[in-house]
Amino acid sequence: MCGIVGYVGKRNAEDVIIEGLSKLEYRGYDSAGIAINQNKDTIAYAKKKGRLSILENFLKEMPLLGQVGIGHTRWATHGEPSDCNSHPHLNENGTIAVVHNGIIENYMEIKEMLIAEGYTFKSETDTEVIVHLLDKYYKGDLIEAVYTTIKQLRGAYALGVVAVNHPDELVAVRKESPLIVGLGDEEFFIASDVPAILKYTRKVYFLENGEVVHIKDHTIKVYDENKNKVDKEVKTIDWDIEAASKSGYDYFMLKEIYDQPQAIKDTLLRRLDKNRIIRLDDIRMTKEQLEDVGKVYIVACGTAYNAGLVGKYAIEKLAQIPVEVDIASEFRYSDPFIDEKTLLIVVSQSGETADTLAAMKLAKSKGARVLAITNVVGSSVAREATDVFYTWAGPEIAVASTKAYTAQLVAFYMIALDFALKRTTISSDKYNELIDKIESLSELVAQILDGKEAIRSIVKDIKDTKSAFYLGRGLDYMTAQEAALKLKEISYIYTEAFAAGELKHGTIALIEKGTPVFCVVTQDNLAEKMISNIKEVKARGAFVIAIAKSSNLEISKVADDTIYIPEADDLLMPILSTVPTQLVAYYASLERGNDVDKPRNLAKSVTVE
Ligand code: F6R
Repeated sequence: MCGIVGYVGKRNAEDVIIEGLSKLEYRGYDSAGIAINQNKDTIAYAKKKGRLSILENFLKEMPLLGQVGIGHTRWATHGEPSDCNSHPHLNENGTIAVVHNGIIENYMEIKEMLIAEGYTFKSETDTEVIVHLLDKYYKGDLIEAVYTTIKQLRGAYALGVVAVNHPDELVAVRKESPLIVGLGDEEFFIASDVPAILKYTRKVYFLENGEVVHIKDHTIKVYDENKNKVDKEVKTIDWDIEAASKSGYDYFMLKEIYDQPQAIKDTLLRRLDKNRIIRLDDIRMTKEQLEDVGKVYIVACGTAYNAGLVGKYAIEKLAQIPVEVDIASEFRYSDPFIDEKTLLIVVSQSGETADTLAAMKLAKSKGARVLAITNVVGSSVAREATDVFYTWAGPEIAVASTKAYTAQLVAFYMIALDFALKRTTISSDKYNELIDKIESLSELVAQILDGKEAIRSIVKDIKDTKSAFYLGRGLDYMTAQEAALKLKEISYIYTEAFAAGELKHGTIALIEKGTPVFCVVTQDNLAEKMISNIKEVKARGAFVIAIAKSSNLEISKVADDTIYIPEADDLLMPILSTVPTQLVAYYASLERGNDVDKPRNLAKSVTVE
């Protein structure tokens, strides 16, 4: 997803912007560019297809000196990745430059209008209409031109704008696409995400939709869409830049897999009071309001959706409320039944996923209460929701989600327990027992991580396979779905998850001699059934790798290889059974020579539909 960085201050803007863009690489991109206001007749710029290092090398030969500028990493939506389609985009005489994150839905009609008026377009992007509109409306006042321009735009956009006639100014806008402002000592930053500016400041403004930022004469002003001045609250970021770096691991993904014991602890323990009662401070639902809930939906995308599948199971089992789970991109167009008695739980690591945001807006417009589980403080999802549960997993940089997923599972267990207490569907003994068991998960995950070399050697045997399968029943099927997503997205091995009982209804036809089949077997009441399924696939030539509780000695007699994991309550096993599957995906990607943290065609944060 595109990343924006902008700077106004006393430093060399090029250095600040390139450094900031490098911290946004995790978002995924295919080209990068920069524009610097050098107090000359035109804005100086450079833009290059490919990795940021290509732009950096170019700038070493041709530095762009100046103290005001904007930069961008682009993830192509309109027009292929190319130098020309990269941002910034400039007006014809090179006096105004724009960077944009998001999509302008009505750009075709605007483009036709501008062409009819004599404007010529260089790129295939939707963004270029913005800079020509700015040119059209600019009459000496940059901020006025920006306001007039954005009135014409439909869609999602975060913008950074500089212009030659305004050598110490920067204007930025946020509408449906993330943008923050960093506040330094007589210097200001704009960025799509916090890591881009953490080296320089911890003080930030989180912008709301429709807000326009005007940096000028060493001061900053923020206005709403009606040009009223807004008094923004300064927030202090309390996580360390170290937390956003690899801390000695080869890849962010491995670091984040190893962050899990801490992330589980942080998400749980900070919410237990001295009597070990869960305190969900940002969830203000009373017992009465909960009693009044007629329908619960869990809506999310990708891994967050897979967490929702476990969440449904936990809420139904503990709080005895029926729950439906849906994919956000389906939910938003399915005319779902929603009224004032609906509770919508959305799950989003980034808090910026376009489909998830649209689903929650739809539900809110029909009167539903929205509870968000997110990892990013101040994210759009968090700000739109009525109630928020922050997973305290720390920043997740690798595209493949790992620690955010396990923290989301902890969040669901805690929400389910909180609901169960309020609805008196759980005894205090069972409640205390489960809290103890959730607490012990952190240590059990650490034990699984100690066995990583055994998992690596299993992966070496199967790394060249064309396809692989995950099987499970009940909660193990939920793990299988998340495991299959992880393996396919970073190893590019075609992987599917099947409910083991469905095999004989068609999918068993896919099993050939040597096909790796991972079987997740952690649910006591379903273990025998799984053993039968293992025998079925083995009889067709599958190479079976079981992931099973350490007490299940039968499994190793039927499987070709077994990854044993520690025991916990069956309800909590998805947290433990997922960890080896993350390592399987990590090592498969590594062994196949892929870019583990940045798999092809994927972006960390999907802020367009
Ligand atoms: C897969 C993965 C994605 C995300 C999905 C939703 O490893 O990370 O499937 O889970 O794009 O993202 P968030 O949680 O940010 O809404």
